[in-house]
Amino acid sequence: MDRDYCTMDDFDLDGKTVILRAEFNSPIGPDGKILDDKRIRESVPTIKGLEGSKVVLIAHQSRPGKKDFTTMEQHAKRLQRYVKQSVHYVDDIFGSHARAAIVEAEPGDIVMLENVRFYSEEVLELKPEAAAKTVMVKKLAPLAQVFLNDAFGASHRSQDSLVGFTPILPSGSGKLMQKEIDSLTEALRGGGEVVYVLGGAKVDDSISVTKNVLEKGIASRVLVTGVVANVFLAASGMNIGNPNYEFLEKNELTGEIPNAKEVLQKFDGKILMPSDVAINKDGKRVEINVRQLPADYPIMDIGHETIANFSDIIRHSDKVILNGPAGVFENPEFGTGTRDILMAATKAKFSVVGGGHSSAAVEEMGIEDKITHVSTGGGAAIDFLSGKPMPAIDALKAAKKRMMEHVGAKTH
Ligand code: 3PG
Repeated sequence: MDRDYCTMDDFDLDGKTVILRAEFNSPIGPDGKILDDKRIRESVPTIKGLEGSKVVLIAHQSRPGKKDFTTMEQHAKRLQRYVKQSVHYVDDIFGSHARAAIVEAEPGDIVMLENVRFYSEEVLELKPEAAAKTVMVKKLAPLAQVFLNDAFGASHRSQDSLVGFTPILPSGSGKLMQKEIDSLTEALRGGGEVVYVLGGAKVDDSISVTKNVLEKGIASRVLVTGVVANVFLAASGMNIGNPNYEFLEKNELTGEIPNAKEVLQKFDGKILMPSDVAINKDGKRVEINVRQLPADYPIMDIGHETIANFSDIIRHSDKVILNGPAGVFENPEFGTGTRDILMAATKAKFSVVGGGHSSAAVEEMGIEDKITHVSTGGGAAIDFLSGKPMPAIDALKAAKKRMMEHVGAKTH
């Protein structure tokens, strides 16, 4: 296949030192342990494909200030279990300790460096040329011959470790990045009745995706669930009740209500909100019609009438793109919405599920083979499907273009 970016097949990687940017950002439980390691497991084919290379793995876990912002030590241990070989974790990113570990390693070894977001320049969003001048890139790039990006889940970001090596080193995609791009490009083909189902708590991203896909005619309808739905219900003029406003306030989401209102007004009839919800009344599921709002209890799922209506739309769609759970599915009382909506997605002609929580639910339900593509990307998958710029993929394309121009100049 003719691609506008290089893949692993385009390089002779044997004996080379390869900087591999992976996506290991995983949900971490209250005990500090990784809850779901899908992203680590999905990177195994790439790492196995580098058996003749010295692999320098760089990745991030969460963001500064967040509870799950932690070291990569347990990620390295999980990877070790899956690749069945030793993974040398180094608690340093580009200091002398990290650089010595890279120099001392042999082809066939895997060195996993520390969380790249421990480094302050990493969290800046920079253009590749500026990112190439950051200290981390300047220290690590001279030690390697090739850069591979397998971090599809972070490819909507423009951070040093994602775009900074591409102007300097021959650069291409890992196998997971390639698989994600192929599957999601397929999802964009054809048209038909395309439905987006947006849930979970990433409200700002969901509003921007809703606007984008409806404006561009990518989706015919957007169904909202989860916290996203609560914001839309509030934006439609409903009083969702004190506990639910308090939740929005605590999570700095009340500012999204006017944005949701603007989108609702612009795309009248194309955004479908729940007609009933399940509230948590002293630990028990109680369903109420949204006309009965305000609720004195937290809304924790969509109700059965909504599940039936949304499922019907999803089953009859040509393509369904689903991101984020419909409710607090970890609690058995409030998991019905998430599970039934996912079951409906298995009946659509083409289905893509993205986001850590939704894909964990897919795995737990054992329906992975009935979903066309379960993406390792949450925000990245949804941005890709909404036609938004993907800086880390664009950086790989620019690297190939530069390489081709260089080859062209040499042969003329
Ligand atoms: C993700 O999980 O979406 C990626 O790892 C990016 O993380 P971020 O939203 O913290 O940039």
